Amino acid sequence: MEDRNVNCLSRWYPKLEKTGVNTPKTLITRTDLPLMNFLDGEAVPGAESFYATLDDFATTVGYPCFLRTGQGSAKHHWEDTCFLKSKEDIPKHVTELVEWSCLADIMGLPHDVWVVRELLETGPYFHAFGNMPITRERRFFIDKGKIIGQIPYWPEDAFEDALHKPVDWREKLKEMNNLSSSDESYLRDETFKVSQEFEGPWSVDWLQLKNGDWHCIDMAVGPMSYGWDQVCRDTDQSDEDTIGDDGTITLNRIDDQEDC
Ligand SMILES: Nc1ncnc2c1ncn2[C@@H]1O[C@H](COP(=O)(O)OP(=O)(O)OP(=O)(O)O)[C@@H](O)[C@H]1O
Ligand SMILES: [Mg+2]
Repeated sequence: MEDRNVNCLSRWYPKLEKTGVNTPKTLITRTDLPLMNFLDGEAVPGAESFYATLDDFATTVGYPCFLRTGQGSAKHHWEDTCFLKSKEDIPKHVTELVEWSCLADIMGLPHDVWVVRELLETGPYFHAFGNMPITRERRFFIDKGKIIGQIPYWPEDAFEDALHKPVDWREKLKEMNNLSSSDESYLRDETFKVSQEFEGPWSVDWLQLKNGDWHCIDMAVGPMSYGWDQVCRDTDQSDEDTIGDDGTITLNRIDDQEDC
C-alpha cells in the first residue's frame, strides 16, 4: 500500500537538519485529535491543549510565524493559513489547514503532524493570491547522490489566472527568477550536501532571505513534485546544460559533482 506519509516534514526534516544547511527554526508535534470534526461545526475535546502546544511553539520561534502540517501549508490562502500573526488566530488557521488537507488530493492529505517555523524575512517582488509574498525561490532535484536539475519555484503559469497581482507581474517575475551565478553556485554546493543524505529522487526547495542568504524550506519525493517531468524530459534530450524558451528554466547535468 502507498505510504501516505512519505512526504511528511517529520520524516525528511531530521535528516535535512543533519546536513548542516540553513533551515528555519522548526518545531514539530503530532496529534490524534479528530480535527476534521471542526468542518462540521463540532467541538473537538482536547483542542485547547493542542492549541496551547502550537502557541508555545510560536512563542518560542516568535510571532508572526509560519504554520503548516507535515504535508503542506495551503500557501495560496496565506493570511488565513500558514501566516500566523497571533495566538488568537490559531483556531481559525488550524481549521483552514484541515479543510485544505481534506480537499487536497483524491483521498485528502493526512493532518496529524503540525509544524511551527520561524518566519523568514524575505524581500517579496510582489504579492498574489491571499496576499502571499512572492519571493525568489529555487527548486532543485536530486537523485542517487547527484543534482539532476533545477527550476525557478514560481513559473509564469502559476500567475496567469491569479487574483490580486500587480500589472507588471511578468517583468517582476522575470527579474525574480533570474539567479546570479554566485547564488547558483552556492545553491549547487548546498544541494549537493543534501543529496548525500537522501537516496532516492527528491525535490529540494530553497528560499532567499532579504539579506541574500538562502534557507532550505521544503522537500518532497521527486516524481510527486511539480517540475519533475520537465527536468527528466530535458535530461533525456541533452547531456548539456540547457535554458528553456522563456529564458528562466535552467537544467544542469553535472557528472562530476564530487568535484563541486
Ligand atoms: N519559514 C518560512 N518563512 C517565510 N516564508 C516561508 C517559510 N516557509 C515557507 N514559506 C513560503 O511559503 C511557501 C510554501 O511553504 P512550504 O514549501 O512549506 O509549503 P508547501 O505547501 O509544502 O509548498 P509546496 O506546494 O511547494 O510543496 C514557500 O514556497 C515560501 O514562499
Ligand atoms: Mg511541500
